Amino acid sequence: LEVLVLAGGLSHERDVSLRSGRRVADALEDAGVSASVHDVDSGLLGAIDDRRPDVVWPLLHGSTGEDGSIRDLLELLGVPAVGTGSAGSRIAWSKPVSKTMLTRAGAATPSSVTLPESIFREVGARAVLDRVVDRLGLPLVVKPAKGGSALGVSLVTTADELPRAMVACFSYGDVALIERAVTGVEVAVSVIDLGDGPRALPPVEIVVEDGLYDYDARYNAGRTQFFAPARLSGEAAAAARELAVTAHRVLGLRGLSRTDMIVDESGTPWFLEVNSAPGMTETSLFPLAAEAEGLALPRLYRSMAEAARS
Ligand code: DAL
Ligand code: MG
Repeated sequence: LEVLVLAGGLSHERDVSLRSGRRVADALEDAGVSASVHDVDSGLLGAIDDRRPDVVWPLLHGSTGEDGSIRDLLELLGVPAVGTGSAGSRIAWSKPVSKTMLTRAGAATPSSVTLPESIFREVGARAVLDRVVDRLGLPLVVKPAKGGSALGVSLVTTADELPRAMVACFSYGDVALIERAVTGVEVAVSVIDLGDGPRALPPVEIVVEDGLYDYDARYNAGRTQFFAPARLSGEAAAAARELAVTAHRVLGLRGLSRTDMIVDESGTPWFLEVNSAPGMTETSLFPLAAEAEGLALPRLYRSMAEAARS
């Protein structure tokens, strides 16, 4: 089996993607698969033409990776690829769209306002933000409507902090999603789908010593403690797994996904977002969940590549 892993690219999450790509390629080689990593640039078509891989594994995080554009290209070329196709990727990439679809499916998700930068500028920051606080209350989480690795995300506890949070957010994208912050346990549930239906892995609990689960807390070992499986009641863990499977199905995801959520005091999981190309680095949640399930990564990744080929 010949697998071409696509990583890097031009997004803000380029470095994370290269780390994910190398980890997956190494694990595939450990499983006896011939795997190489291509740092995506204008030579992509040539690389596919030269190597003629059986399967491509796009491990591109962020825009041009998770937004469906690379999948359009692979679909045009007719190359089998691990993971979600272009339509599902596009839907999952938009946090407001996926929240709406999950709400329709009966899931809880924090109340929110979607705010394009143009309106923010036209109406005036002050007037808009006052209305947002009136409607949603405090504290709030401000994030780019499309983005990853918590880049441009701020927790806002007083109205004074909002303008700065908006500026940080708009430096990563032109639409902001402002959500009511839900108190509870931060949990990520990964899903594997080898063609026989989606299966949720054990929920992983994220505890950050100080502050947000931001870029630094994600990728520099030591600031974050993970509990795999999460310290949830049996009922809450089952509800969290069910939410991740629902998200996977409702958004049309394939192969693998990871749903991020907050589990509140009553055990209800609140949908935050879903990742169609979850991180696979040494500090990422998907590999942690797989290991907690007792799965060996080389074998698992080989099965995922094989499932994509058939
Ligand atoms: N966007 C990063 C890679 C993640 O969700 O794991
Ligand atoms: Mg994400």
